[in-house]
Amino acid sequence: MKILLVTHKFQKILAEYCTRTVDVVNESELVLGGTLEFLQNINPSVDSILITDDALSLRMEQNRSDLNDLIHWLVANQKSNVKILILTRYIRNDTELKNLSYRYPNLQVKNYEYIRITSVLFREALEHLSDTKHQLKQPSKPHEDKSNPRNTDKKGSFLDRFKPKPKAPPELQATDNLTRELDRVSRGISRIVAITGHSGCGITSTTINVASEASKRGLNVLIVDMDIEYRSTNMYFSSFHERTKRDEDINASLIRTLARPQDYLTTAFHLKENLWMAGLGYSFSDPKLIEQFYTSSKLVGLLSLLRNKFNLILLDLPLNLLDRFREALIHIDSFGLCIPNNLYAVLSTLKNVEETLNKENTAYLNAKSKVIVTKYNDRSRFQGDIFIPDKVSAVTSSGLLESFTYEMKVAGHISYDTDFDTQIETDVPLVYSNRDHERAYGNILLRLLEGSS
Ligand SMILES: Nc1ncnc2c1ncn2[C@@H]1O[C@H](COP(=O)(O)OP(=O)(O)O)[C@@H](O)[C@H]1O
Ligand SMILES: [Mg+2]
Repeated sequence: MKILLVTHKFQKILAEYCTRTVDVVNESELVLGGTLEFLQNINPSVDSILITDDALSLRMEQNRSDLNDLIHWLVANQKSNVKILILTRYIRNDTELKNLSYRYPNLQVKNYEYIRITSVLFREALEHLSDTKHQLKQPSKPHEDKSNPRNTDKKGSFLDRFKPKPKAPPELQATDNLTRELDRVSRGISRIVAITGHSGCGITSTTINVASEASKRGLNVLIVDMDIEYRSTNMYFSSFHERTKRDEDINASLIRTLARPQDYLTTAFHLKENLWMAGLGYSFSDPKLIEQFYTSSKLVGLLSLLRNKFNLILLDLPLNLLDRFREALIHIDSFGLCIPNNLYAVLSTLKNVEETLNKENTAYLNAKSKVIVTKYNDRSRFQGDIFIPDKVSAVTSSGLLESFTYEMKVAGHISYDTDFDTQIETDVPLVYSNRDHERAYGNILLRLLEGSS
């Protein structure tokens, strides 16, 4: 079988899994957007095309249009027997893709639950693609063999997994309560939330995951990366980072949005459907512009103007910036204060607050904060007991710092995860790839939207 791997940086790894009966057509890494051009230029003989998430754009409309063009070309060139399989964790229940597969029966989308494609999954996909006896079936067809038990032979069980699920997938049931609560809270809201804490404790990852979860749930969201020292949103959203390299305006999107928030449609970067961001590219350095626009009053202007355009504005705002933006604090509805569950983190958080804010603003931050316990280690102990999130909050406000003595609610916790940085490597936030984290960030989103009451 001659297979085209549209798998971007997983090309080499997946090519190694290929057995002798499988020829990989392309040596270079391909993304979906570049596949048609490759086929047009080389016009190789191909039996099947495997597409994985790594090769997709963050913009679903782009993926649909690329796929549409690809299929159009295959049909026009008498290649409609070429099977296309999309192995994805990311695309779910996309009706337009489903419609496309009615038009092109050899297209199938298969979801998987793991963070990465496993070798077993990949081999099963190859086996299925090289099965010449069966063309891939119309999505409606497998419904017919409902009686087929799950524990049939390997091939059967793989085919089983291609069946469209008759009901909502189980994760929807698991988060059902959360969904209901979020629906109740989020209707018609507009909130400004700052994610803060001692630098390095998980501020940026919390910001981008809470924002992604909110956008996934239909809210219009703007991320403002105020942390111009690190600009880490570039790491989590490579589409933004790539644009900053060739587009000076987007490279300066934070400054431009602070300067002209009313023009956010052109000054901010559109990540996907209802998710926007403003930040700086790594190469932006103009101290004059920073001095002029990276100020409290410009931030107040931005927040006042854009709060009616978005359901949620999320600021990545480490503690050491709170002083510079102290006049804007009052415009922030709630703070998600990130603290890992160890005493060192609690103390450095308080030290950071003490160095940054006066007493009045310290008390204000305290009153408006909910604690997000980051890098949560379930074996960490404090005074002999497990250092649970409530305890982290209680110790932080126990009077270690004068003016920081209001009790704070806990918004949630994010477990320490040795695979945490996969989201950077794969460019897919954890809320899309890991159900536990999805639920955790979903709960945090809900608590933050509820305000500081
Ligand atoms: N829950 C977690 N599990 C494991 N590592 C984490 C977790 N949260 C954060 N980290 C690590 O900390 C680093 C910094 O996280 P990030 O969200 O960028 O924090 P900040 O914005 O506060 O600097 C990440 O690259 C990651 O390696
Ligand atoms: Mg950061």
